[in-house]
Amino acid sequence: MISPALVVVLFFALLVTAADLYKVLDVHKSASDKDIRAAYKRLSKKYHPDKNKAPDAEDRFVEIARAYEVLSDPTKRQIYDRHGEEGLKQHEGGQNQPNPFDVFSNFFGGHHQQQVRRGPSSLTEFEVSLADIYQGSSIDFMIKKRILCDHCRGSGAASDSDIHTCGGCNGNGVKLVKQQIFPGMFAQSQVTCNECGGRGTVIKKMCPHCQGNKVVDHTAHYTLDITPGMPEGHEVVFEGEADESPDWEPGDVVLRVRSKKEKGAWRRKETSLYWKQTIGIDEALMGFEKNITHLDGRNLLVVRKAVTQPGFVQVVKGEGMPSFGSKSARGDLFIEYNVVLPVELTPDMRRKLSAAFEPSTSTRDEL
Ligand SMILES: *[C@@H]1O[C@H](CO)[C@@H](O)[C@H](O)[C@H]1NC(C)=O
Ligand SMILES: [Zn+2]
Ligand SMILES: [Zn+2]
Repeated sequence: MISPALVVVLFFALLVTAADLYKVLDVHKSASDKDIRAAYKRLSKKYHPDKNKAPDAEDRFVEIARAYEVLSDPTKRQIYDRHGEEGLKQHEGGQNQPNPFDVFSNFFGGHHQQQVRRGPSSLTEFEVSLADIYQGSSIDFMIKKRILCDHCRGSGAASDSDIHTCGGCNGNGVKLVKQQIFPGMFAQSQVTCNECGGRGTVIKKMCPHCQGNKVVDHTAHYTLDITPGMPEGHEVVFEGEADESPDWEPGDVVLRVRSKKEKGAWRRKETSLYWKQTIGIDEALMGFEKNITHLDGRNLLVVRKAVTQPGFVQVVKGEGMPSFGSKSARGDLFIEYNVVLPVELTPDMRRKLSAAFEPSTSTRDEL
């Protein structure tokens, strides 16, 4: 007889083996090879047991390697899509699966990246308002770039049947030429085929969509997510989003985020915020209560009861920038006071002020 506990264990085991490989990599079933690689790159780093000390990190890491190994192999992926995990097992016929750590080091260190040529990455300075960095924000932007022509998928030909093996080099891309170095004596050398430019193929009819250029201009839309407190100059990477070409894996689009310099307004240095406040002579002498509109639109009440000297800096704890990567920590706000004097004094003010500043003389006068 099977005990209930065993049934539960068996059921659980079935669930584990049936874990959807697409879910493991957090990609859609229609994900491209590029998406799968990007997902593996992100997740394998996140769960690598050298870095991630969570108790289940290693299991996740192994699962992720397995999912990548299957989904990055077109044959295995097809079998998995049609026949699931069972079909895969039959296909693999009890072969050992590769060590997940080898999968990792091959992906990052080894030949994988040498084989693939990377196109140029782009770096753009991206200015946002300080308020956006204070509160966090999502900013839509566009990039003009070149993408593979979707009509010919980067071949440049009107159809696959318009791509022919080059007759000049029989598809080798190079020609052997005989050169006479002495009468009756020849040397053979290899030169790039001039008919196909070394590609080994010639196109009879160009793709009408891209005129054979293989790529077309495109305006792509993205969203830049600004985390509150993002440091000045922080680089946000959009992996593989630079110009496409059939000759390379696209490079990255990198945005370097900075706050706009706005004159006379808020300034920031790391987690500290600076604000310049102008007050009148009356406020400087007698104190005041004032609202300063903070970067998030909030009224921040500042109170001074004592005399405020020009240039005095008031520190308001915890009203600076949020610190990047920590939800609760915040820097301080430094308010620097500038005192303005009246341009002119009316005779009445003059009399009153002199009375105020020379109390002993004025009282004597009145007596
Ligand atoms: C400051 O703002 C608060 C509300 O935002 C308001 O209740 C208060 O009266 C204001 N104080 C001054 C001195 O303006
Ligand atoms: Zn050729
Ligand atoms: Zn085309």
